[in-house]
Amino acid sequence: MTNATAVPRYPLTMIRLHWLTFVLVVLAYVFMEFREIFDRGSPGREFMKAAHYSLGLAILGLTLVRLFIKLAGPAAPAISPPPTPWQQTAAKLGHIAIYMFLIAMPLVGWATLSAEGDPVLFFGLEIPALVGPDKVLSGKLEEFHEIGGTIGYVLLGGHALLSIIHHAVFKDTTLIRMMPQRRA
Ligand code: HEM
Ligand code: HEM
Repeated sequence: MTNATAVPRYPLTMIRLHWLTFVLVVLAYVFMEFREIFDRGSPGREFMKAAHYSLGLAILGLTLVRLFIKLAGPAAPAISPPPTPWQQTAAKLGHIAIYMFLIAMPLVGWATLSAEGDPVLFFGLEIPALVGPDKVLSGKLEEFHEIGGTIGYVLLGGHALLSIIHHAVFKDTTLIRMMPQRRA
């Protein structure tokens, strides 16, 4: 039985960044997946798309900050009881894949809009285009972004499921380490 108050956790900044990213990613998906409730070209649909772009760009910024803090900070706290070496390697590879997703998806989305010749707005502020106008490239990038979105469902769904399995089945401290500590 684990004494939850004695579990070594991730630093609070990393915990906050993790759950903030979680909320932003869910919202970015929701705004894009439900854009079709509004007619094409309507203000509602344009708002949903603009929200998707701004949230996605915020995810990119937060992820770069998070990686910097992670690489400059202490190693992740140990899990108890410890997973086998292959599980630890698989988890590391899974996390690298998620970081790549969080960086590549916004960059590809940003490049898609740039290639489309559309202005790219971050909460109303125009940011530079990543590439020049090119309709063929924009179509390819959009396809790539769409495939990335589907991969994200599998990657993040698997990640969340495994965290819950660690907690509920293996009964180890994997998930508790990523939860803020309650005040005594
Ligand atoms: C982690 C961040 C992001 C995720 C998970 C994500 C995910 C998605 C998903 C699931 C779709 C719908 C694909 C479909 O049609 O089935 C989509 C569409 C799109 N996203 Fe993103 N995206 C992200 C960031 C961005 C950013 C930062 C931009 C641009 C600045 C962007 C631009 C676009 C564009 C242009 C489309 C197509 C819109 C349309 O069909 O009207 N995305 N994205
Ligand atoms: C959009 C959704 C999510 C994203 C983008 C995400 C991203 C990440 C990333 C990048 C890490 C690696 C942290 C590090 O640098 O060490 C991580 C760790 C973790 N995440 Fe998530 N996560 C998401 C959702 C969830 C959910 C829903 C749960 C729980 C049900 C969860 C539980 C955990 C746990 C327990 C860890 C620590 C795992 C370990 O150190 O082995 N995550 N997450």
